[in-house]
Amino acid sequence: MVDRHAQLRLDGTEHELQIHEPTIGNRGLDISKLRGTTGDVTYDPGFANTAGAKSTITYIDGGAGILQHRGYAIEDLAANATFLEVAYLLLFKKLPNEAELSVWKDSVRNHTLINEEMKRFFDAFPRSAHPMAILSSATTASSTFYEEFLDPTDEASFHESALRLMAKMPTIAAWSYKKSIGMPYTYPKNSLGYVENFIHMMFHIPAVEESSIDPAIAKALNVLLVLHADHEQNCSTATVRGVGSSQANLFASVSAGIDALWGPLHGGANQRVIEMLQNIVDDPDATATSMIARAKDPNDSFRLMGFGHRVYKNYDPRARVLRAYADEVLDAVGITDPLFDIAKELEQTALEDDYFIERKLFPNVDFYSGLIFRALNIPTRMFTVMFAIGRLPGWMAQWKEMTEDPDTRIMRPRQIYVGDIDKTYVPIEDR
Ligand code: ACO
Repeated sequence: MVDRHAQLRLDGTEHELQIHEPTIGNRGLDISKLRGTTGDVTYDPGFANTAGAKSTITYIDGGAGILQHRGYAIEDLAANATFLEVAYLLLFKKLPNEAELSVWKDSVRNHTLINEEMKRFFDAFPRSAHPMAILSSATTASSTFYEEFLDPTDEASFHESALRLMAKMPTIAAWSYKKSIGMPYTYPKNSLGYVENFIHMMFHIPAVEESSIDPAIAKALNVLLVLHADHEQNCSTATVRGVGSSQANLFASVSAGIDALWGPLHGGANQRVIEMLQNIVDDPDATATSMIARAKDPNDSFRLMGFGHRVYKNYDPRARVLRAYADEVLDAVGITDPLFDIAKELEQTALEDDYFIERKLFPNVDFYSGLIFRALNIPTRMFTVMFAIGRLPGWMAQWKEMTEDPDTRIMRPRQIYVGDIDKTYVPIEDR
């Protein structure tokens, strides 16, 4: 590859910045030596213009609405792959053949139980506990049961802990829901597939005769998980990498990612979208038009949830898949949802509005995912948990890539200090 440089002219002096070439997409101007040679730092709030890593996992062209994992288009994966296959692709860098997939499925299946002592941990939370809080706490708490697998520099330990997280996350998630409704925890049933097992743990009630799992529901859940599997350097993934860069273990790093995902500007938006749509149904004064007007009002902090994206300046390809799929799912489960009609009306109104057109604000994955989760009977407060189950393989693949990258350094941004200096301590009685 040709060694290319960019010139930066600063206070009359030329500085050479190495250019890192991508396979496709943005080139990277290397400013890592800038402070050393000039004493200056770059300023980039939210790291909106900063690449924190070179990565081979996920490619996004936000302008064209393209998303690929290890070179495979998300539309192709959503139509053809199971979630465990996509997890394998992300973690092991290739699609598994039949034998590899079979071993992978069996390995995950072998670890679905969580330690019995963890039951007391679930018991300790109040009934009202948000399942994301339980998920994050239980994830980091799991590290206490696997202290032998916590060395972030050890390849075998990574595999053991990644396997356990993949296997146990649905169990923890389902138990966090059972806790919230005061029902007994349902143990995993390893004759079932990954998605079916999760449905079983969520909805099985010991006193009730077991019913078979609707394949249409399992298929829809599989598609949802595939669509959430990775999304390059988003807020939660950057958090997982950042926490991991201090050589914190995988459980702790993923737990931090779950916390970052919880926020309403990130994964928490899927819950907020449904609450927003429900508000339009419940409040006679709220309409699609009035919501759009509020979102545009600079004096109102309200934002149209499920709209806009840091990277996509076009329709989020995941939202496109889900919008098309929502009709099919609603048909398959035999329900009509007034919120879906409102969502479509809201989308149409926003897409024709100058404010949204000028800012290139389109529906993101969270706009339609909640409607499908709802159709599958997943309670609203569990939506972001579903996102977390889906995103787990991406977080772990990114964490692994970070530990293998010779360029990795502990994440430690600089600042531009704008506060006071050299003040003299004033005794409390004189303040
Ligand atoms: N409703 C109304 N206005 C919006 C919205 C929205 N949903 N999103 C962005 N804007 C406006 C901003 O006010 C800003 O306008 P201005 O230029 O007049 O100040 C402009 O569009 C650019 O927005 P930023 O906030 O600068 O964009 P940023 O990249 O920082 O934020 C984000 C992206 C957080 C996703 C934002 O679009 C948002 O808050 N959306 C709603 C929450 C949401 O759906 N989050 C899920 C994202 S997808 C995911 O995480 C899985």
